[in-house]
Amino acid sequence: MTDRYAVIGNPVTHSKSPWIHAEFARACGEDIEYRRIEAPLEGFTAAVDLFRAAGGKGLNVTLPFKQQAFRYCATVSERARSAQAANTLVFQKEPYGDNTDGVGLVRDLTANLEIALGRGSVLLMGAGGAAQGVVGALLGAGVSRLVIANRTLAKAQALAARFPGASACGYDALAGEAFDLVINATSAGLSGDGPGLPSGILRRRMLAYDLVYGRDTQFLAAARAAGARACDGLGMLVEQAAESFFVWRGIRPDARPVLAKLRAA
Ligand code: ATR
Repeated sequence: MTDRYAVIGNPVTHSKSPWIHAEFARACGEDIEYRRIEAPLEGFTAAVDLFRAAGGKGLNVTLPFKQQAFRYCATVSERARSAQAANTLVFQKEPYGDNTDGVGLVRDLTANLEIALGRGSVLLMGAGGAAQGVVGALLGAGVSRLVIANRTLAKAQALAARFPGASACGYDALAGEAFDLVINATSAGLSGDGPGLPSGILRRRMLAYDLVYGRDTQFLAAARAAGARACDGLGMLVEQAAESFFVWRGIRPDARPVLAKLRAA
């Protein structure tokens, strides 16, 4: 019988994950089915229970359910624990939770964008769920400096306190600083706002990366205007999917041709 997977979220109608996983399955010769499940905002657990009872093998979890997914699991990976969130569930006897977002970001940065993270100083903007999901992987990649900046300073401090090697500050305190990589993990772009960086942070010979994809955020537009290299999170999306596929199937698909197709579409 064909193994069944799905992405669960709300909303999930525009998710590219079914298409990405169909590409991976074809390339790897794996026979899987992968669909979308839109769970009601109060109905995550019931929807997952139903999917498991029907024999589902695994789920990708997207907004706003990643923290609930983490709590749903009997056991979790170190990556999920570090993010306090799960985006990949595996159903054997008990539900197991993993998180592939951070490694997806790091692979996009290092393999696709060819950034030498090991020597780089990184500014991470935001201290919510999206930021929390990538701090561990960035530090694991050996960045020389990781500063977490947030509008609400206390949240940046609380996040940095969980990760030796990270420091926290507000945006104003960044004036005069220089970074090789600035990552936007705020949801400011979704409302059309910029996160409020002091001028001079975005500059030539640096990479500005937005975790959001498919949308030219004010952050990316400002980065380009300042002469920086600017990139959205489409590569992270494909790389986190490739890692989820590996967690489920034990085969690591090549994300690059799939990313190239998505970029060309
Ligand atoms: P997500 O899961 O997408 O990270 P979240 O947990 O609600 O969502 O976190 C949103 C992040 O975007 C927070 O860091 C938030 O800053 P605050 O902690 O100060 O609220 C940040 N954010 C949202 N809108 C913003 C704006 N207009 N300017 C700056 N930061 C913003």
